[in-house]
Amino acid sequence: MDEQVQQLIQKETERQENTLDLIASENICSSDVRAALSSPFVNKYAEGYPGKRYYAGNQVIDELELLCQKRAQELFHTDYHVNVQPYSGSPANLAIYAALLEPGDSILSMDLAQGGHLTHGSPVNWSGKFYDFHFYGVNKETEEIDFIAVVETENDDFTYSVEIFNDFD
Ligand SMILES: Cc1ncc(COP(=O)(O)O)c(C=O)c1O
Repeated sequence: MDEQVQQLIQKETERQENTLDLIASENICSSDVRAALSSPFVNKYAEGYPGKRYYAGNQVIDELELLCQKRAQELFHTDYHVNVQPYSGSPANLAIYAALLEPGDSILSMDLAQGGHLTHGSPVNWSGKFYDFHFYGVNKETEEIDFIAVVETENDDFTYSVEIFNDFD
């Protein structure tokens, strides 16, 4: 490996071993995960889904993705289809928005300043450019989401959301 790159990897390894980063969504990957992420799988394009790829040579990748889907279904005790491709929250939310909405559609989401995600309509994020966001927050006293207040303050655009919230009653 390039000596300078090697030195920086070592420096970062020591930094991580000697500091506590309190960033909730960061993670310390196991050595198994890091080994998988630096395996020959990274050499391949694998757009599409198992059995429906845009490039040849994905037989083994298909096996891996199907295994990953099966493991996720077992983990979440579900028979629903599991999309295991997004590597983090942002592309996962993009996949959901693209599957369920048209550009310009309304989304009711949690305010970024009160616990929401950048993909909840921040103007610096693609979500804020393509969809019409409305926000809810938390009760200032309890710091919890008041679902009843969320339902009462919203309008007809959010009939679907209201139906979902009613399921929690
Ligand atoms: C507020 C907020 N927006 C966006 C992101 C990016 O999310 P991800 O890395 O899951 O795509 C994070 C990550 O934690 C976040 O805290």
